[in-house]
Amino acid sequence: MKRREFLTVAAGYAGLVVARAQVAPPPHPAVAAAAGPFALPPLPYADHQLEPYISARTLSFHYGKHHKTYVDNLNKFTAGTDLAALPLEDVVQKTAGVVEKAAVFNNAAQVWNHTFFWKSMKPGGGGQPQGKLLAQLEKDFGGFDAFRKTFIETGLAQFGSGWVWLVTEGGALKVVKTANADTPLVHGQKPLLTCDVWEHAYYLDYQNRRKDFVEAFMDNLANWTFAAAQL
Ligand SMILES: [Fe+2]
Repeated sequence: MKRREFLTVAAGYAGLVVARAQVAPPPHPAVAAAAGPFALPPLPYADHQLEPYISARTLSFHYGKHHKTYVDNLNKFTAGTDLAALPLEDVVQKTAGVVEKAAVFNNAAQVWNHTFFWKSMKPGGGGQPQGKLLAQLEKDFGGFDAFRKTFIETGLAQFGSGWVWLVTEGGALKVVKTANADTPLVHGQKPLLTCDVWEHAYYLDYQNRRKDFVEAFMDNLANWTFAAAQL
């Protein structure tokens, strides 16, 4: 191959590599395949892509350690039981409120909640949704700004670990909070968007300033395309 031809081919290959990287982030280096029926879903973006609002370090620990540990524990606690053959949402529903299955519920719900949280954010997100979702927020909260204020205040009002959610219930949009691993799935509510307010979600970047984190989520990360698709 002549040098000029080689350069042309090489440039084309480099372009292909860049294009692929933009479509699918590489596998997370901290995550090995789960040993069991429940798998850790891939992150929808690379570790650094939510910066400066969530650092690569926070995202790497949160996904590669915390989320992965919930998956590993779920596989461990369901091994050899009928639950291991069920879809994740069914495990959450069947173990909710069952005292002797609390460990299974906590890990199953945390796997589900975290997967939903990653999808609730995107690089370049935040601001206002559009169309039907915006109209419904205006109808049910009296305006987007009132919704934003309610979401942030509800995230702050969750004492200790938990989650703040935008859900639909009985045809209306609501903001609710859940403690620890609890999830709207088991309360007859349909989640549209969530923000993790466990300290592990923000402590490395914001220390104790949960308000700054939830504001950054709402203004710069919220994936309204995903939320609208849940309606
Ligand atoms: Fe978390």
